[in-house]
Amino acid sequence: MGWNSWNAFGISPRLIEPIIEQTADLMVSLGLRDAGYRYLNIDDGWQGERDSDSRITVDAQRFPSGFKHLADYAHAKGLLFGLYSDAGTHTCGGKEGSLGYEDIDARTYADWGVDYLKYDNCFNRFLPIRPRFEKMRDALNATGRPIFYSLCEWGVDDVWEWGASVGNSWRVTDDLMDHWDSLAHNADDASQLHQHAGPGSWNDWDMLQVGNGGLRWIEEQAHFAMWCLSKSPLVIGTDLRKISPDALALLKNEELIAVHQDPLGKAARLAWHKGPYRVFSAPLADGSVAVVIWNRHTHFNAYFYDDGSQCNYTTATFPIPKKLMNHTEYFKPPPDHHPHTRRRRRLQDERGDTSVPPD
Ligand code: GLA
Repeated sequence: MGWNSWNAFGISPRLIEPIIEQTADLMVSLGLRDAGYRYLNIDDGWQGERDSDSRITVDAQRFPSGFKHLADYAHAKGLLFGLYSDAGTHTCGGKEGSLGYEDIDARTYADWGVDYLKYDNCFNRFLPIRPRFEKMRDALNATGRPIFYSLCEWGVDDVWEWGASVGNSWRVTDDLMDHWDSLAHNADDASQLHQHAGPGSWNDWDMLQVGNGGLRWIEEQAHFAMWCLSKSPLVIGTDLRKISPDALALLKNEELIAVHQDPLGKAARLAWHKGPYRVFSAPLADGSVAVVIWNRHTHFNAYFYDDGSQCNYTTATFPIPKKLMNHTEYFKPPPDHHPHTRRRRRLQDERGDTSVPPD
């Protein structure tokens, strides 16, 4: 559980040292640290050039005191400090990557006092994925510092099959965008992988969009409940300087966090579904079962390319107008654009897995 800069700030130059310090202060004063959110993570965009010894530097315009200072600042407040890098020549935002520099980068992070590394997969020269992520795992382990290793490879190469031997969590979908369509479809895909999650190795459903304005209140509640029941890392992605009391209360909901932190660590499985309705359940350590009853109704909207082919859908949870109830397309989920989703569905068909929601 923690906070990450990406969903709120992206690669914007607005992300500067005082904002990270202020976020650390707010994690404490808003009660988020005490609710369990401990990692303070800076995503892409912090990197400067490599120096003459090949050590990565920090963008000195934005972080003039450097990361040792920020890690110390976080630690002094009872928080942990995290960074982002990439198993390629460049990060997804075009900054210096770690490919070929794994050992020196891991040592640099450890010297700074880093506790968490999110490791991405852009600009990878099409080299096989697993050895690149294993190289950084070994480099981090060689530092002797415990560093949470978060694989950010968007679910490629069936990472859920091998991620547990490489990292502590692995992303299972594309980036979660701040709208219902992205959330509903990512959750449908991600929840099929429940059997791969367990203590110490988690399916990462991506960082939270709670508080960012693209979801209705009821959608934010569904979002947080699903992420808790799935045991995905809970990484806040909103600007804490502007968070609403509702969003804050949701992120601090004690019952949901207790389900998320349950020591059994079992992720929710789809127990029942009909059309857009889903029931997910997960056993808890005390023998009880946590359940989310989820209405993931989507409102159908199609966009068309110039050649007439359909390219996109937007969705929302409006009450369904009566005249649309008979619309044959209304309950049809969007097609699977993502090749990995298609491959997963095919594999599940081959395995005869009937828990996959119908298309
Ligand atoms: C990828 C990741 C995002 C974010 C950006 C940074 O898209 O999936 O979470 O880290 O890169 O450029």
